[in-house]
Amino acid sequence: MEQLSGKVVVVTGAASGIGLALAKKFGAEGMKVVMADIEVPALEIAAASLPDSVERITVVCDVSKGEQIDALRVAAIDAFGAVHVVCNNAGVGGGGAMSDMNIDDWKWVIDVDLWSVIHGVRVFLPGLIEQGEGHIINTASVAGLFSAPFMGPYNVAKYGVVALSETLCNELAMQQSEVGVSVLCPSWVKTKIASSVRNKPGATAEEADALAEFVQPMIDGGIDPDTVADRVVEAVKAKQFWIITHDDTPGAVTLRTRSILDGTNPPQLMH
Ligand SMILES: NC(=O)c1ccc[n+]([C@@H]2O[C@H](COP(=O)([O-])OP(=O)(O)OC[C@H]3O[C@@H](n4cnc5c(N)ncnc54)[C@H](O)[C@@H]3O)[C@@H](O)[C@H]2O)c1
Repeated sequence: MEQLSGKVVVVTGAASGIGLALAKKFGAEGMKVVMADIEVPALEIAAASLPDSVERITVVCDVSKGEQIDALRVAAIDAFGAVHVVCNNAGVGGGGAMSDMNIDDWKWVIDVDLWSVIHGVRVFLPGLIEQGEGHIINTASVAGLFSAPFMGPYNVAKYGVVALSETLCNELAMQQSEVGVSVLCPSWVKTKIASSVRNKPGATAEEADALAEFVQPMIDGGIDPDTVADRVVEAVKAKQFWIITHDDTPGAVTLRTRSILDGTNPPQLMH
């Protein structure tokens, strides 16, 4: 989609980090912005931070719940009459050794990070195909390209997002559709992901501290969310599938691919 001005974008996880940067960048392109998030006060503050010239609405939405994504589309159509670009971006980080994990740990991350994207595609794709114009951006991670230790549920969810997106890309190409899809695979970005546990039902303070301690140092060395959002807007305009934001990612992917081809055990790659 080269012409974005006047069109409508839906961004999940828009109250913070990459989602807020996406809302700002697409807004600066002249798009009308639907900002969705589970955190009510943060969402309102984020929406107020966009320039007055940007038409926007906020929708409180738990992306792990399919019926709330159905309601998100209804709210977007009610407000602006159509949806053209969908950023399935909301997500949470969950870490730890698999030997210590329980079902709730797995379920929370997979529901928020993978089922959200499945629902987003189920709900929005038919309308985009019907109108013959649109683009879906699914936020995965480098965790969808190689498997660093102590990130089991996150890796599983993000591999799922990459597989879903790649499959969809092939299907749209075979159907000669005008609709595009991209998968965003960043390494560390300076956001609030280290405090993801703030949105986990029933989480303990110890759990929150453990994730923050593990992840925060890497986040502090990450890139700016605005840089990521610039790359996403470019990819939508160019109908580009892979959005790889970090220079060291191709090397890590090469090492993993080589181990598959050589039949050697997986290299221990860190983000
Ligand atoms: N920050 C990084 O280093 C990094 C790297 C790779 C991928 N990502 C991915 O980027 C995406 C955005 O994360 P971020 O880094 O901007 O983190 P963030 O915590 O700053 O923003 C995530 C947003 O998602 C919202 N959210 C959480 N659970 C939700 C739910 N159930 N329903 C609706 N909204 C929910 C949060 O309230 C928050 O506003 C995620 O999918 C994450 O996995 C982040």
